[in-house]
Parts: sequence; C-alpha cells; structure tokens
Amino acid sequence: MADTITIIDDRTGKKVTVPITGGTFPSSALRELDPSLFMYDPAYLSTASCRSAITYLDGDNGVLRYRGYPIEQLAEKSTFLEVAYLLLNGELPTADEFTAWKHDVTHHTMIHENMRKRFVDGFHYDAHPMGMFVSATAALGTFYDDAKNIFHAASLEKQTVRLIAKVPTIAAMCHRFSQGLPFVLPNNSKSYAENFLNMMFKIGEDYQVDPILARAMDVLFILHADHEQNCGTTAMRVVSSAQSDPYTATAAASSALYGPLHGGANEAVVRMLTEIGSMENVPAFIEEVKSGSDRLMGFGHRVYKNFDPRATIIKKTAYDVFEVTGKNPLLDIALKLEEVALSDDYFKSRKLYPNVDFYSGLIYQALGFPVEMFTVLFAIPRTVGWLAHMKELLADKEQKISRPRQWYVGADERNYVDLGAR
Ligand code: CMC
Repeated sequence: MADTITIIDDRTGKKVTVPITGGTFPSSALRELDPSLFMYDPAYLSTASCRSAITYLDGDNGVLRYRGYPIEQLAEKSTFLEVAYLLLNGELPTADEFTAWKHDVTHHTMIHENMRKRFVDGFHYDAHPMGMFVSATAALGTFYDDAKNIFHAASLEKQTVRLIAKVPTIAAMCHRFSQGLPFVLPNNSKSYAENFLNMMFKIGEDYQVDPILARAMDVLFILHADHEQNCGTTAMRVVSSAQSDPYTATAAASSALYGPLHGGANEAVVRMLTEIGSMENVPAFIEEVKSGSDRLMGFGHRVYKNFDPRATIIKKTAYDVFEVTGKNPLLDIALKLEEVALSDDYFKSRKLYPNVDFYSGLIYQALGFPVEMFTVLFAIPRTVGWLAHMKELLADKEQKISRPRQWYVGADERNYVDLGAR
C-alpha cells in the first residue's frame, strides 16, 4: 500500500497526491488544488502545527515520553533540573554538564528588588497569584536589555536560565504578598524544589523542608514539565513566532494555562470536591454531570483516551505525601468519584478518565498550598517546556509567523447608516 493520500477536487476533477509522513500529510496539497481553499479545523483537532522532537504522546495507549525517555522512568530516577536540561538540549547531561547547569540555575534565582518592592507591592492585597505571576513574568523581561536578542544562542540560553531559575522566586513572592508575609530570599545551598518550598513556607529559623515532600514536589515538577502542543504551549509558539522575547511569550503561555479547562483544572477539582462535601453526595453530583449541568473536573483529556500516565504516578505520590502530612480529607470523596465515574457508561463511552489534575490538587493542599497557587505550581515546571518549544521553533526553518485563516460568516457589504437614522 502506498504511503500517499490523493485528494480530488470534485468541482474540477483535479487531483493531487502527497506523501503521508509521521501520520501527517502537508496541507499545502489543498492549496495546490485551489489556492483559495483552506482546511476548516476549529480548535486544531486535526492539525499538526509543527515537527517536534521534544515530547512523544500516545493518547490511546497512555504513553508519555520526554526526548524518548518514558515519564515513569524519569519520575522514578531523575530530578526536575536534569529533566529540564534534557527537554531543552535533547540529551541527558553528563556529570560535568549537570553540575554546570545546576550551578547556573541556582545562581540566577534572585530577582531585582524593584520587582518586589515596586511592582508586586502595587497589586491589591487579594490579587490572584496566577494573575500576579503572569504579569510579573512579562515585567521581568524589562529588567534585561538583552531579552529581545532571541537569535543570539548565548543570549537565549541566558534568558532560559534566568526564567527557569526565577519563576519559583516569583511564585513564592506572589504567595507571600497575598498572605502579608515577608519575602524569603532564595537559598543557593538547597535543591530547586527544596528552595521553592523554603521560600513559600519558611516562617521561623527552625523551618526545615521534609525531604519526602521536597521529592514529591520535584516529581510533580517533572510530570508537568512538558506536554507537547497543548493550549499553553501553542500560545508560546504562536507568540514566539512573532519573535517576541521569552518573558512576554512565557507570560502569554501562562495566561492560557490560567484557564479552568487547562492548568486551572486542579484548582477547580479541589473546589468541586469541597462543594460535594461528603461521599454520600457523590452519586447526585455524578447525575448532575451526566445531565450536562456540571463537569467532572480533573476528568477527560483532549489526547489521552485510555489513561493519563501522569495521573497514575501522581496517585502514588499522593500516598507518599499523605504519609508525612496525614490524609487529605477530600481524598475519600475523590476516590469515590473516580470509582463511580469509571463504572458509569457516560464516562466509559466518552473515554473520560482521571487526568493529571485529579489528584495533584489534593497533594498541593496537603503540602500547604492555598488553591489559588495551584496553577502557579503548574506554570513553574511548564516554563521549561515552553522554553524548549520556543528554542525548537526559532531553529525551525519551516516556521513563519503564525497566522491562521478564517471562514468568514459575517454580513455582506452594506452601507453605513447615520446615527440619527438607525
Ligand atoms: N465531565 C463531564 N463530561 C465531559 C468531561 C468532563 N470532565 N470532559 C468531556 N466531557 C464530555 C463532553 O461533554 C462531551 O460529551 P458529548 O459528546 O455528549 O457532547 C464529550 O465528553 C467530549 O468532550 P469534549 O469537551 O469535546 O472534549 P475535549 O477534548 O474538547 O475536552 C477537556 C478536553 C480536558 C477540556 C475536557 O475533558 C474537560 O473539560 N475536562 C475537565 C477539565 C480538566 O480536567 N482539564 C484538565 C485537562 S489535563 C491538564 C492539561 O493538560 O491542561
């Protein structure tokens, strides 16, 4: 069987045959038939927008790999900073490369005092930390006059290190501000996750980060580091295609992540579980979801139609965390919801399974994060994925500024009517 596809324009009888490569065929085939013809694909359900060598995802079989390495192996054996290096550079670092990388990231964690004193202090006391994070990330770029130098490899690398190093500092700063707590400076002797937890929660001198909790945080960071062409990453690529700087592009990607159907889902899950309130209310809630008046947050995925491998790892991590913190009281409601949904035809027939967000919120809550911080916790590690995609896009000669077309369905030409005559 030929690995080609033939498209016939029935209006003219003209046909064009193009190769199928990597499960795709070039949409330019349509333009060959008729240059005024476009594919109509709302929400890009059938469109591959780029070639990418970063993350492989097989939704039917629940497979997720970063640069070829199964997520299960990375979550068990690696660390977030090593995974970050892998995603950005394509290979796991040698011992020397890793030492240098860790040193670089660890020594770029400070942010300019003006960011905290002038910029962050300007927010209202109850500002949502994700709104603060989005704007602070964009503002950060204004402190670096080389930020726009994106085609200079060393400069892009510098911004990449700065962003990865500083997003935990920004996140913790937003949290401390919203709690009225003094800012805790980064501590270069701690690991990435440990330093973040320390900046978030340190109150007295005696505060110590529990190593099991720091490891759980690191695993959660690994699981969230990249997920190929999701909504936030697509935003990153679209904005980067206009050659914006990495800080404003990251802010755009974070804005997409903020939405409740994307990174905001973990916050929505905890709110949903809190509203359900007890196990007895689960069946009634499921009925509401089936009637269409509600959505089971943390369930379903655009790509995973069997199981989300990240959800499996997270569920295990949840139990490790609860060993230290005590069980999150919402866990029983979550387990009951999962059990009822997985045995219900509504969910089975639509291939709706728990996704990464179903249990992550419970862990975050047990670790002491307020729900408003949950999406920020997603944005910290995803910054790595976004920057890896920006780097890949800028090196891709096939890419141009993103500019989809539309199917115009508005009014035909009509004449302006003066205000008094309307
Ligand atoms: N609860 C109830 N019904 C659902 C759900 C849900 N969570 N998700 C999908 N459905 C139904 C939907 O109503 C539709 O039914 P019908 O065919 O009768 O109209 C069918 O399943 C297909 O849904 P869809 O909305 O067309 O699927 P999608 O691929 O556009 O949406 C999704 C994917 C993740 C946005 C959606 O499943 C959802 O809203 N889930 C809840 C929010 C959530 O947990 N988001 C986190 C996603 S994972 C983290 C990330 O990568 O950002």
